[in-house]
Amino acid sequence: MDRIRLRGGAPLEGTIPISGAKNAALPLMIASLLTDETLTLENVPRLRDVQQLFHILSNHGVDWSVEGKRAGQDGMSGQTIHLCARAIVDTTAPYELVSTMRASFWVIGPLVARMGVARVSLPGGCAIGTRPVDFFIQGLQQLGAEIEIDQGYAIAKAPNGLKGGRVDLPRVSVGATHTLMMAASLAKGETLITNAAREPEITDLAACLTAMGAKIEGAGTPEIVIQGVDRLSGARHRVLPDRIETGTYAMAVAMTGGDVTLDHARADLLSAPLSILEEAGAEITNTNRGIRVRRNGAGIRAVDVTTEPFPGFPTDLQAQFMALMTRARGTCRITETIFENRFMHVQELARLGAKIHLDGQVATVEGVDQLRGAPVMATDLRASVSLVIAGLAAEGETMINRVYHLDRGFERLEDKLGRCGADIERISG
Ligand code: UD1
Repeated sequence: MDRIRLRGGAPLEGTIPISGAKNAALPLMIASLLTDETLTLENVPRLRDVQQLFHILSNHGVDWSVEGKRAGQDGMSGQTIHLCARAIVDTTAPYELVSTMRASFWVIGPLVARMGVARVSLPGGCAIGTRPVDFFIQGLQQLGAEIEIDQGYAIAKAPNGLKGGRVDLPRVSVGATHTLMMAASLAKGETLITNAAREPEITDLAACLTAMGAKIEGAGTPEIVIQGVDRLSGARHRVLPDRIETGTYAMAVAMTGGDVTLDHARADLLSAPLSILEEAGAEITNTNRGIRVRRNGAGIRAVDVTTEPFPGFPTDLQAQFMALMTRARGTCRITETIFENRFMHVQELARLGAKIHLDGQVATVEGVDQLRGAPVMATDLRASVSLVIAGLAAEGETMINRVYHLDRGFERLEDKLGRCGADIERISG
């Protein structure tokens, strides 16, 4: 298993290219199941989750290809992929495939909408909480699907097709909103989703579905209205930049000090975390290339944060922000409201000398003058990168074990940081 070794202390200086968003690329790839024509996606990140989804979609009969390098592109440019589900040959998503990546459960929506049947393994527990799928099931039932749970599988049937309906989501769910929007696009009649997720990745999927011929209004607001159509066509769509990767590197610069331009980043996708970072002492400016982040001289101030659905502070940046706060002047409270168990990084940060007290959903972080390098363990995707941020500011060597979590969601992290002066290397095997 690969490990990452880093030595803290160097400020980050230079440019980091921001990749396409993982959390948009995955539902966009799944949308290829809705049409027998080719869906082309540009700016797709090179990530383990993307590879895994190719594998899952192949099992349903999707042909896919990745375009080769083009003039002017380097290894950091996003890839262009083509996906074609001319015929769906298998409507089962087996446990072996779904259990490796929760987002693969979302295939249930397009499969039942197009084929009238889907048999998808329940994703099971997850390191960051129970993460149930009841909203998906109730939502598809509102669209006329009959659903039974049998031997760990959700079996959805709608032999005469789905019918438009009203779905009131009990709480904001990104996954359920993606899935229901895709399913409703091929249902007969109108669907209203209330309390819908407003994340930019939802708006991105809606834009792609619209290019495929879907009729969707209100994406990006809490009420989405979808008029079902008989069939969808192929389309070409560019994946939006990754706001979580953007926020992660912005926090890394705030942590180490320095001056970095995040190429292709869009500040409007992460206003809440960027203004929190400004409060903490980083200087942030929009440039025509992306976002420039600087911190010189003064230290980091402690700022309280509560995670919320978009446009609030994202749960996917909570661990990284906590890493930053371990070195702040003063004490802050970080409250996690999306997942009940998303604090696994606390124990690992403590190994580097952080002072964090956990009480239910609230972590109280007391800033310390110095962190010291140590061997630590990556536990989930975002927790892993919080250890990188802490290690970049720690005295001495930090060795991060189990970095396969990082490869699920961060493209060439050690190259991107290394090019800006970080002392970081991957040790294979
Ligand atoms: C969530 C985040 C998303 C992040 C992703 C991975 C929010 C609103 N969503 O999306 O930004 O990228 O995790 O970290 O911040 N729930 C149910 N029943 C369901 C579905 C969800 O109770 O059927 C609950 C979940 O347990 C959770 C909340 O609703 O407490 C949000 O879930 P959801 O948005 O679906 O999670 P993800 O799509 O994984």
